[in-house]
Amino acid sequence: MQKENNSNKLIVALDFPTTDLATAQVDQLGDAVGFYKVGLELLFAGGLDYATTLKAQGKSVFLDMKLLDIANTVEKAVANVASFGFDMLTIHGVDAKTMDAAVRGRGNSNLKLLAVTVLTSLNDDDLKQQGSSMAPADLVLHRAKLAHEAGMDGVVASGLEAAAIRAAVGPEMLIVTPGVRLAGGSVDDQARVITPERAISAGATHLVVGRPITQANDPIEAAGIFRAEIAKANG
Ligand code: C5P
Repeated sequence: MQKENNSNKLIVALDFPTTDLATAQVDQLGDAVGFYKVGLELLFAGGLDYATTLKAQGKSVFLDMKLLDIANTVEKAVANVASFGFDMLTIHGVDAKTMDAAVRGRGNSNLKLLAVTVLTSLNDDDLKQQGSSMAPADLVLHRAKLAHEAGMDGVVASGLEAAAIRAAVGPEMLIVTPGVRLAGGSVDDQARVITPERAISAGATHLVVGRPITQANDPIEAAGIFRAEIAKANG
């Protein structure tokens, strides 16, 4: 990953209710951003077609679909996503069966599969409710190792978990990190934030940034600051 162009380590989250709003944002950012995350909100408002348009414009696309189903369904869904030529896709990384199926579905395509280990919205009590006695941090590591063993390409993880995950899974796995804020910037509704430099130093390979860029007075300038911070952290 070290050789990858730094500008492709910044992934901007297109958290918009309509493709018109997403299009306006992408057009405004132009060449300042080359990688976009399309999540469930936009996916259910024409976002899948829009994601193919982004690919046709030469952008990289991360589909944040968080798939979880029986192995046969996951395998075939992933194979279809791979056939679109998208770049990243999330799968719930709760068990080896699901992730093995996703890896089979990916085949030899370039689609990178990312495991969602434990949603950061879940606390100890939520996990107990699910029937797990593990603390969230331990379950994150357990599932990150499962993802690695299954042949997944990476995990989505907060910057605060990145160092422990990196130590557990070795140097090759992607660690894609949301909840990133510039020092002194607004944290919005994120509870635990980390600066770009700290996230990259802790082992993150890509940063997912939404509002600090999309809601900035000057989104192009904001994207430039994030890119510069990433480049600085990578030396
Ligand atoms: O606007 P902001 O930078 O907070 O957006 C972060 C993006 O990353 C959003 O699309 C959000 O859903 C996603 N995300 C997150 N925390 C996670 C997983 C995903 O903020 N643990």
